[in-house]
Amino acid sequence: MSAVETLQVQLAERSYPITFGSGLGTQVAEAVSAARSQGRRLVVVTDDNVRAAAGALFAGPLAGLPTYTVPAGEGSKTLGVFAGACEFLARERIDRGGVLVAVGGGVVGDLGGFLAAAYLRGIDFWQIPTTLLAMVDSAVGGKTGVNLEAGKNLVGAFHQPRSVTCDMALLRTLPAREFAAGMAEVIKYGLLADAALFTDLERAPMTSPDDPRLAGIVRRCCAIKATVVQADERETASSGGRALLNLGHTFAHAIEAVAGYGQYLHGEAVGVGLVAAARLSELLGLVPAADVARVRRVVEAHTLPVRLRAPLATDALVEAMKRDKKVKHGRLRFVVLERLGTAVTRDEVDPALAVQIWKEMGAS
Ligand code: GLY
Repeated sequence: MSAVETLQVQLAERSYPITFGSGLGTQVAEAVSAARSQGRRLVVVTDDNVRAAAGALFAGPLAGLPTYTVPAGEGSKTLGVFAGACEFLARERIDRGGVLVAVGGGVVGDLGGFLAAAYLRGIDFWQIPTTLLAMVDSAVGGKTGVNLEAGKNLVGAFHQPRSVTCDMALLRTLPAREFAAGMAEVIKYGLLADAALFTDLERAPMTSPDDPRLAGIVRRCCAIKATVVQADERETASSGGRALLNLGHTFAHAIEAVAGYGQYLHGEAVGVGLVAAARLSELLGLVPAADVARVRRVVEAHTLPVRLRAPLATDALVEAMKRDKKVKHGRLRFVVLERLGTAVTRDEVDPALAVQIWKEMGAS
């Protein structure tokens, strides 16, 4: 990949560029100064870990901008934190011409995006993802929201960012556990749309931000996501469509809700969820056991869990699945593998199969 590349997410008047590169401070500074010269007020939302780790960004291009800093972690993705941040925006007199800059991982991006969607019924926002997971998934596509005790992302809105800036330099300080969590989403893309990516990761797992494949793989995942979102922005397709991006996530969201937010990083729960989804695909007669073993090996090779770390109650997990947003008319809907590299949605899956899989995965 050359120094700076862009990819356009084509959504008519909601189209926007994703910029990829390493050391994109100048681009951010130019965007800030262009917005200010138009008289726009900017506000930053971030978390305390990112503020410390990305000091150069806050001391440089974002210096002097009012900044709302939340505690790092899933615990900040709540209506309470959202309400506090809304009051901050009002105190800072952010008006309809304002721009919210979300600098952080999935939690900050989802929370910041939801603020931008709801405050004054919608203001512009820019995503500057600082984790691998946010770069390849959550910062792109306009899903925003917060969690309820009842489940993940149950309150939110579709609100597309105006730009996404993927600066690979920000990943250098990412803790190994966070990097691995991002790889769960990368593996997901391989499984649902890019068999060659999956076999590449199988041949040589990507376990470090120094891997020379990183920038190209981030771009490849964003390209897949852009294509899917362009075709089904609001996840309304009756089958397939954007729901396919949730491969492994019905299982993952249940784990996160039942274990308690923060016990598993989202990507760690997705690691278990991908293995569970592969096993479900096998039980539905779609893929052979050997493919499930391949999925398990690739997930494990990226230092991600492939089963529950400690038993969780099967009943609670199944109940949590029933609150998944993909449930319609009370019927569970799963994303499963037709083969490695191709996913499909399946309705009317017998809940007994989910129970069997949870038990195999270590549920009590
Ligand atoms: N993370 C799934 C989606 O954006 O649709």
